[in-house]
Amino acid sequence: RNLLILNGPNLNLLGTREPGIYGTETLDDVEALALDAAESHGWTVDCIQSNHEGDLIDAIHGAPGLADAIIINPAAYSHTSVAIPDALSGVGLPVVEVHLSNIHRREEFRHHSYVSAVADAVICGAGIAGYKMAVDYLAARLDGEAQ
Ligand code: DQA
Repeated sequence: RNLLILNGPNLNLLGTREPGIYGTETLDDVEALALDAAESHGWTVDCIQSNHEGDLIDAIHGAPGLADAIIINPAAYSHTSVAIPDALSGVGLPVVEVHLSNIHRREEFRHHSYVSAVADAVICGAGIAGYKMAVDYLAARLDGEAQ
């Protein structure tokens, strides 16, 4: 099986971006952690980061046939985009939404994510470990160990 891991705007800056909130690990570290987790289940991953909403939507549209599930950190688009959750609903693959920070403990405008309504699971506040949790959840679910 294969997983599509999507990271939205500004996540390319991980490591130097507000390290007090997002930590010092880089996007490469995030992707390596997800790859390791996937490999432990015999799975592969494709990772895409984009600062552009339409590119994320195109990647979602391309997922069926290539990926069995999507892990997405929509970053700031979580709080603004209707098109990203529409795309996720449109392709119908299992979705896990991940946020590094606990968005509910931050500014009011981060408390609502449009993506959460179409996600099967939401993980936030666990830092980069959240991506591993997402992979493990999907592996358990898709390989039939859990629902
Ligand atoms: C984020 C939280 C968002 O509110 C923020 O805009 C991000 C990152 C997170 O991973 O904690 O860019 O999605």
